[in-house]
Amino acid sequence: MNPTRAEIDFAKLAFNVEQIRRHIHGEYPRRKIKICGVVKANAYGHGIEEISRKLVDLGIDFLGVANYDEAIRLRSLIPDTPILVFGTLIHSKLDPAKYVSILHRHNLTATVASVDTARFLDDYSRRFRSKFKIHIKVDTGMRRIGLDYKRAYRNILQIASFKNLELEGIFTHFAASEEKNKSFSRLQLKRFNKLLSDLKKAGIEFPIVHAANSGAVLDLKESYFNMVRPGLLLYGYYPGSGVRNKIKLKPIMNLKSKVTFIKKIEKGESVSYGRRFFSKKPEFIGSVPIGYGDGYWRLMGNRSKVLINKKFYRQVGSITMDWIMIELGARYRIKIGDDVLLMGEENGNNLGADKLAKICGTIPYEMLCAVADRVERIYLNK
Ligand SMILES: Cc1ncc(COP(=O)(O)O)c(C=O)c1O
Repeated sequence: MNPTRAEIDFAKLAFNVEQIRRHIHGEYPRRKIKICGVVKANAYGHGIEEISRKLVDLGIDFLGVANYDEAIRLRSLIPDTPILVFGTLIHSKLDPAKYVSILHRHNLTATVASVDTARFLDDYSRRFRSKFKIHIKVDTGMRRIGLDYKRAYRNILQIASFKNLELEGIFTHFAASEEKNKSFSRLQLKRFNKLLSDLKKAGIEFPIVHAANSGAVLDLKESYFNMVRPGLLLYGYYPGSGVRNKIKLKPIMNLKSKVTFIKKIEKGESVSYGRRFFSKKPEFIGSVPIGYGDGYWRLMGNRSKVLINKKFYRQVGSITMDWIMIELGARYRIKIGDDVLLMGEENGNNLGADKLAKICGTIPYEMLCAVADRVERIYLNK
């Protein structure tokens, strides 16, 4: 059995969901604010099917995915919870005409980011003699997808005239809500609110309005409307240093392996590819079967630490595809088969994805998504 695995703790997921709930409802105790749990990209590397099932058990209101392929895979497991697809229609392996029928069959909620998409869905809905549930995406400054806020009013009047669409929701997405300085987020919010109020005057209102990703959930309560869309918070991390400590979170994934080989090297010997580490004394080196092929980034070579039996050890030399090497010192108390924590948190010892991300010059999102398919996911406290 491969000792390298990602242990994902459902008790911690439940804890994080509860913290988010308390935080948003603490701000607005009388208002029911729905939560759309963002589970795209294999639930940020944690396993889309298992995480989604647990979120549904925990009473999540919506699930958010990136594309129709993810949504279709989920629907076979989760019959009732609304699934909102953030991506566009051409963003799928199937050709649009084929999957529109699948969308109907799977009762998925489509994002509409252009009038053309709305027209296309309207047309197909007429043929199926049913209504399509859509959420309209407004681009208020992210400049990714969405109706440009300057033209959105006119576009939405046009979309509202289509007879076979159910305009269930409208949303926008923040570009920098994780930053301490919220001026751009507030500008986006102002543009969105102006549009909502103009539409209201024209008699168009949406039952579900949403904007808040993790940064905004923590720090921008004016953006909650009646649904929030946290992703990273569910998995136990803060989206940026500007918004830390607003709520308590527990990282739900511990990436682990075992010490599987120990050898002694002499002073001046090198370790691993490229000879980027030389021992300063005779010492023991442990080998752990995890590498960049598992998502343990090569950029961490000679720069990261691991936790064995509650003690930190230095990783030395280049990270290889399947192995890393650990400096155990001149004397050691480690046995073959002892557990090694590579990423996560254990007994208050922190090797969080955010810490490793700093070493690699990236963000915790990318560290989590990088955990490869070949790493077995094991779910605890189901
Ligand atoms: C449309 C949309 N909403 C919400 C999220 C969740 O973001 P976060 O993980 O920062 O909460 C994402 C992820 O990038 C997204 O694309």
